Amino acid sequence: MKKNIVDLQEKLQALLLTQQDNFLQGAVADYIPALASVKPDLVGISVATIDGNVVGAGDYQRPFSIQSISKVFGLVMAMNRVGDSLWQRVRMEPSGQPFNSIIQLEWEKGIPRNPVINAGALLVSDVLASHFSSSKLAFLTFIRKLAGNDTIRVDNQVYQSELTHGNRNAALAYLMKSFDNIEAEIPDVLSHYFTQCAISMSCQQLATSLLFLANKGIDPRTKNNICTARDAHRVNAILSTSGMYDQSGEFAFSVGLPAKSGVGGGVIAIVPGYGVICAWSPPLNKFGNSVVGMNLVSDIAEELGLSIYH
Ligand code: DON
Repeated sequence: MKKNIVDLQEKLQALLLTQQDNFLQGAVADYIPALASVKPDLVGISVATIDGNVVGAGDYQRPFSIQSISKVFGLVMAMNRVGDSLWQRVRMEPSGQPFNSIIQLEWEKGIPRNPVINAGALLVSDVLASHFSSSKLAFLTFIRKLAGNDTIRVDNQVYQSELTHGNRNAALAYLMKSFDNIEAEIPDVLSHYFTQCAISMSCQQLATSLLFLANKGIDPRTKNNICTARDAHRVNAILSTSGMYDQSGEFAFSVGLPAKSGVGGGVIAIVPGYGVICAWSPPLNKFGNSVVGMNLVSDIAEELGLSIYH
């Protein structure tokens, strides 16, 4: 391994040690009961670069529930499938509301503020469920291809738990349907959405599978066009303004990278022209973002000078 990569690996290892006392600052998500039993002190970080290096520390090869990080993959699939017509059904503005809020959706006549809040991801799930003969299989195939790993799977226990406790998501979907902004049957939309949320992946797999967003839409390993450069720019823009929900402003202010969190405790951050960072620690803050995951991404981004606003 080249010296700068060995240095990076050592930096990640050292960073994990600085976070040892911070696991008590948050709480593991329990509104999805299957997530409540995850050990709070699991922690990992991985960095994948577009020039082909992948390093990590801690539990970076251990799969966890990707939850809302799946919204990034779903959005790319929907953009590829229906093009600009998507933006007539969902907007690209920050919501200023919690990720599962319903209030704004009523005021704004069933048009979600952006595709990475729950309402927006349900809309995207409707696009996928309506345009693929088997959208769940298409989604899994897409992710497996990006990660170069056929063993990635849906955690059925998490899926069932979300389905049983998914009344708020069902309410969001039915409200959008009442405004004629959902085409498929609601159980199909929910089944797709919960399936993509319940996929398990490791920090290493997430970091490598999202490299195309740091590389103008092209997977640097296979040279495959995953999306257009314009759409990679658009996804990064949405992640910069909305990916960390109601903490997106603070994250841009202090870190300066397009990022997305999930209630499984994962955080991914795209560094255009460089690579992808993924950190994982299950306890969340009140916004639904991983406390230690955000600290880790923030510290490594600062140490390496990765902010896009420099
Ligand atoms: O629908 C939900 O509430 C979850 N399956 C996903 C939410 C989530 O990950 C929000 N992220 N911070």
